[in-house]
Amino acid sequence: MTFEFLAKDPASKARAGVLTTAHGTIQTPIFMPVGTAGTVKAVHQRELKEDVKAQIILGNTYHLYLRPGLNVLEKAGGLHKFNGWDRPILTDSGGYQVFSLSGTRKIVEEGVKFRSHIDGSSHLFTPENVMDTQRTIGADIIMAFDECTPYPCDYKYAKNSMERTHRWLQRCIDRFDTTDPKYGYEQTLFPIVQGSTYKDLRIQSAETIASKNRPGNAIGGLSVGEPAEMMYEMTELVCDILPADKPRYLMGVGTPANILENIALGVDMFDCVLPTRNARNGMLFTTQGIINIRNERWKEDFSPIDAELGGYVSTFYSKAYLRHLMHATEMLGAQIASVHNLTFYLWLVGQAREQIMAGTFRAWKDQMVKKLMTRL
Ligand code: GUN
Repeated sequence: MTFEFLAKDPASKARAGVLTTAHGTIQTPIFMPVGTAGTVKAVHQRELKEDVKAQIILGNTYHLYLRPGLNVLEKAGGLHKFNGWDRPILTDSGGYQVFSLSGTRKIVEEGVKFRSHIDGSSHLFTPENVMDTQRTIGADIIMAFDECTPYPCDYKYAKNSMERTHRWLQRCIDRFDTTDPKYGYEQTLFPIVQGSTYKDLRIQSAETIASKNRPGNAIGGLSVGEPAEMMYEMTELVCDILPADKPRYLMGVGTPANILENIALGVDMFDCVLPTRNARNGMLFTTQGIINIRNERWKEDFSPIDAELGGYVSTFYSKAYLRHLMHATEMLGAQIASVHNLTFYLWLVGQAREQIMAGTFRAWKDQMVKKLMTRL
């Protein structure tokens, strides 16, 4: 994997670049739609490419390991072949899902013992087997096995957890570097910075992660309930330490405003369930602000969902029709809303990139953040 640095905004720390993987290139800054179980919920691959213009999607080790399981994925020839997505894929390691989803879990030095949220069966994730599992899934970018601490988190717990995450990271690296890709193309391992909301821990973690000298780095443990200002403070601190010539990925973030603010601090890659999850509940992100399409206000509004955004679903369907579909719990409603929100997120990072290339990002961002946070 290579990262070509193209431009830096003169009035902020925002950067534009190109990431090249075995399954194609990614223009950064980028948003990566979440495809937890090997599918971006309610969205066909064709729509993901042609309407949303997604360049890379996410998969989750935790879900894919439990279902359909490694035997099926290996027989399919990896996730790209299984789900038909031939562009880049990134898999999260399970270091987040195992904590948020499985009912019971126990952290030991060896790894995490947990019970499946599907059938209650017992499993053990270790740094080594999580590397092997991500080799089998066949993602282009795979994530280190970490612990995402909750917020708030006391200092002692955060420190111990971070130190264990660093020990796990070394085990991930040792395993990754002594195993081969299963399907003949290159895979890349990203380590993850932790340290909760403590500056000294974040600095220590960022320095440790930077010293591993991997082709890209991630920032975890944020957007877990802390105030946005605290998240930005941590991101800035960490971005200033992580190498400038490698992509920086902020995990699980966020709202359109969060994304623009973090781009301004030097983040290149984002993922979040927000655009798809909120779409299914009727919350739409538009070029005019946030709308709840279920509201009475849209009952007889026959104007397009978002004329300024463009794209097929956002111009073809009206607000009133989408509102009707949502109230009638019609599946098409979730499909239209999901494609719309993702199209908006990819449009937003594309606009940010153009502004960075033109050297005008900062002023554009300040005005855009205000507009995007408006509730219509
Ligand atoms: N997704 C959101 N935050 C995190 C994190 O801290 N670790 C991992 N592995 N995934 C995440």
